[in-house]
Amino acid sequence: MNTAELYSDASFKPIAERVLRRGLDLHQYKASFVGRRLEVRLRARGVDNYQKYAAILDEDPSEYAVLFDALSINVTEFFRDEAVFDAFSRFIVPEMLARSNEVDLRIWSAGCASGEEAYTIAIALTEALKRLGSAATFTVLGTDVSKRAIEVAKLAKYPFSSLRKLPERVVSEYFRPSPEEGYYEVGRKVRDSMRFSSGDLVLATRPTNVDVIFCRNVLIYMGREVQAKLFTRFYRALNASGYLVLGMTETIIGAPAGVFEARMQRERIFQKR
Ligand SMILES: C[S@@+](CC[C@H](N)C(=O)[O-])C[C@H]1O[C@@H](n2cnc3c(N)ncnc32)[C@H](O)[C@@H]1O
Repeated sequence: MNTAELYSDASFKPIAERVLRRGLDLHQYKASFVGRRLEVRLRARGVDNYQKYAAILDEDPSEYAVLFDALSINVTEFFRDEAVFDAFSRFIVPEMLARSNEVDLRIWSAGCASGEEAYTIAIALTEALKRLGSAATFTVLGTDVSKRAIEVAKLAKYPFSSLRKLPERVVSEYFRPSPEEGYYEVGRKVRDSMRFSSGDLVLATRPTNVDVIFCRNVLIYMGREVQAKLFTRFYRALNASGYLVLGMTETIIGAPAGVFEARMQRERIFQKR
């Protein structure tokens, strides 16, 4: 089903309205994506049309959380695309420190899923500041539309297997074994620098005075218009000369492309002009 078809389908509207009242605007996503995800939920609940599914949402509000999960592909990992965090540590962090006496950096992980990206940023930043002998402090704000993902992020407990990409030293310095066998927890030092909250990137109040925004592997699910709107929101959220880091297959489209400079093309690192 194409965008016009799904979004003008009268039986889809009651679902969109209900979901919007819970804080998520379905129209931001490509219709093919929403259509496929809804089909999965319809099948799982044993119904064959949108009217029946809207009735399920009314009878069983716990279905909202499952639908939100189905809509958010929460796939993520620590140090996903290592080269990006390497470029951030080696080039962006020294540049930020050289530019101002501002010693309290604010980094936003927008669409942070279960927190791995946000903790990766905090670890990479701690390591960089240590290497540079800097006394700068920082806060990493992690936001995601999935409340469940944010709960996991706040818990900061991950299976040991998810730490496989990290050098042993990093694991022993930033994690500690959890009382639950097979799991590790992020250490207190890093956790104290984190703030997690749930919310839709398009609808929720956006953070302000941010030095770097990581929004990786989120925009791929969104239509062009919504992407353009988000770039404008990101532009406003950023401090002067702030940075925007996208996923490896993403780029800035439309008018906002002119207000960002591509600083590191391969790593998808852009800077506010
Ligand atoms: C594939 S994950 C990417 C996670 C992480 N940024 C990374 O690159 O590893 C996409 C995340 O975007 C979140 N997401 C999708 N639409 C969103 C929206 N409108 N507002 C906030 N988060 C959203 C999903 O819930 C999901 O956790």
